[in-house]
Amino acid sequence: MDPKILIFDTAVEAAEACGDRILELLAGARIARGVTSLAVSGGSTPRLMFQSMAMRPFDWTGVELFQVDERGVPPDHELSNFRMIRETLLGKIRIADGQVHRMRAELSAAEAAHAYEEEIRRVFDLGPAGIPVFDVIQRGMGPDGHTASLFPGEPLIANRTGIVAAVHVEKMKQDRITLLPAVLERARHTLCLVSGHDKAAALREVLRGKVNPMAWPSQIALDASAWYIDKAAASQL
Ligand code: 6PG
Repeated sequence: MDPKILIFDTAVEAAEACGDRILELLAGARIARGVTSLAVSGGSTPRLMFQSMAMRPFDWTGVELFQVDERGVPPDHELSNFRMIRETLLGKIRIADGQVHRMRAELSAAEAAHAYEEEIRRVFDLGPAGIPVFDVIQRGMGPDGHTASLFPGEPLIANRTGIVAAVHVEKMKQDRITLLPAVLERARHTLCLVSGHDKAAALREVLRGKVNPMAWPSQIALDASAWYIDKAAASQL
């Protein structure tokens, strides 16, 4: 199956459409299973999406919300993905604290990754080798084609058994925590939100180039993904 590509005039329209589709998928999954699971990314692109989602009349009952990745900083740090998610979404909706699963990046990245894996195993009721199946995973893409905190050439891109890992991103001088490919590949729905001219060249390689996730990590789960893109990011497709 090929990736589904949806192109919008503006970043706002792409973000609103992506957010609305996430809510629609969560509502459907909850009808089917009583509960539903979502993992969201950080960075700057999802801000518009979260702001839009927060204004929708959506009942967050039964939604287990997780992070795709986090920088190795405390939750009040300006680089914290959780801080951004809290400011743009969580602080504006009614969702029980127990449904929000934060990567505890104030710990060391290794400790935070271990703690997160334990939390995922608990919530998804997994055995020792189990891999969680999220109803929805929302991802972004960096100008270098990275997704989550899996950057080009990262050996963890070849990991098919792990759930969460600590990763050092040398070019950013950052330790991070990230979901691993086995989890990203099993999502029932993968929605990638990408906007801006700075993403256009990478997007061409990811969507039109040779499949090589080690070089272009955003190609992880490519076949089953839907891309919400503004015209600027789509300008080289
Ligand atoms: C992060 C994100 C990351 C993000 C891309 C795009 O921690 O930075 O989770 O994977 O999706 O880097 O970031 P922007 O939206 O800021 O371009």
